Amino acid sequence: MSRRHLVPGKLVLASHNAGKLREIAPLVTPFGIEPISAGTLGLPEPEETGDTFIANAALKALAAATTTGLPALADDSGLTVVALDGAPGLYSARWAGEAKDFGLAMARVEREWRETGSDDNSAAFVCALALAWPDGHVETFEGKIFGELVFPPRGDRGFGYDPIFIPEGREETFAEIDPAEKHAMSHRALAFAQLVAHCLTPP
Ligand code: IMP
Repeated sequence: MSRRHLVPGKLVLASHNAGKLREIAPLVTPFGIEPISAGTLGLPEPEETGDTFIANAALKALAAATTTGLPALADDSGLTVVALDGAPGLYSARWAGEAKDFGLAMARVEREWRETGSDDNSAAFVCALALAWPDGHVETFEGKIFGELVFPPRGDRGFGYDPIFIPEGREETFAEIDPAEKHAMSHRALAFAQLVAHCLTPP
């Protein structure tokens, strides 16, 4: 499948999350791409009404691209638990509530998982990336890392659901693993590697 390439120039990062911005900027600048944040441009955050990670990433990227007239990149990510039919999934951020309390969100995962009575503790982190152009063209990529849940939460590095997730082949949770190592193997890294391979041209 042939993918549209991003030519050197400005790229809107359709996220208001400073952490994501810091992580993405160094990945694209070597390709002559100049990242600009949605916050800098005062772009509104569209409602995430899609029913997949890809759909939500695409709607955020398209909204930013059509509003600014520039190409835009958006991501959407979350934790999916097999025994919970994929929950919290698209609602991963929302399970933490207004206060963004992930202690609460992880406790809910544990409670709901125990209520199923299942001994299947497999889970995955998913990251969808969408690159959109003002003419409506969108390229999408998905990275997924499989693993299992562990309770109680362990480790104080990382963020979100990291303390209850052990990636396949490891014994430590994402919150116990060195952050540089986590970033190199994560769902986000896997999605980015595809985007770089398919849409960015080496200098
Ligand atoms: P988004 O900003 O709408 O994509 O929200 C994604 C949510 O999924 C975050 O708030 C986290 O709770 C969770 N999540 C995504 N990636 C990770 C990760 O690498 N570690 C832990 N939690 C994550």
